[in-house]
Amino acid sequence: MPESSAKKLLILIGSPRREGNSATLARAVQEGAEAAGARVALRFIDDHITSFLRDCRTCRRADGECSIQDGFRSLFFEDFLPAAGVVFCSPIYWYGLSAQTKAFFDRTFCYYAASYPDSARVIEGMTRKRIGLVLASEETYPGASLGIIHQIQEYARYTHSEFVGLARGIGNSRGEVTRDPAASLANAEALGREIFERKFSDYRIDTPRSGRVWSE
Ligand SMILES: Cc1cc2nc3c(=O)[nH]c(=O)nc-3n(C[C@H](O)[C@H](O)[C@H](O)COP(=O)(O)O)c2cc1C
Repeated sequence: MPESSAKKLLILIGSPRREGNSATLARAVQEGAEAAGARVALRFIDDHITSFLRDCRTCRRADGECSIQDGFRSLFFEDFLPAAGVVFCSPIYWYGLSAQTKAFFDRTFCYYAASYPDSARVIEGMTRKRIGLVLASEETYPGASLGIIHQIQEYARYTHSEFVGLARGIGNSRGEVTRDPAASLANAEALGREIFERKFSDYRIDTPRSGRVWSE
């Protein structure tokens, strides 16, 4: 596929550990996506965000821009908004997303809020993406990830996006996820490879359908 027509995938890593488990899984997603022809940007959120969301009424600049001086604006406008797909890769912290990952979601508010002059364009860019989720955790039981899955599902619903898949890897020390016998790296790689192609369905009672999912 020519470089210019390839779909853009953003992989956001929400761990501070450069060689950690989220990053290891994220690189597997990247390998899969690149093998499938996507243009991939991989970013550590804490290279770009150094502050939580503040009260926009008190800190928005006169021209409408956010006054927080960090790299969020370029991460959001140059990498996130143009991406056709985003894979969030976070460690499970206290049965939730890492603060880095949550801060990314919160900081978007400054730009889609009506008080930002170009919010309509921002909202357009935030909608209709393919969304993937990658989680690293020490514990294995499914319930440890449920709150996060629910949050991402609601985020996808709210932004008219498609939450197409989850890959979870188990490990605690840096990179230990490579020894996870549940093939979590292969699952992450498959998520990257299929992020733009994987079948997505979310029916309503009146959704027209044939009764079969896969063609014969
Ligand atoms: C502050 C903190 C909270 C954590 N909370 C949980 C938890 O609730 N459940 C869990 O299974 N692991 C928990 N862990 C372990 C991490 O999820 C695990 O070490 C993960 O592999 C780290 O990913 P990383 O290498 O990408 O940073 C926690 C770790 C930290 C530092």
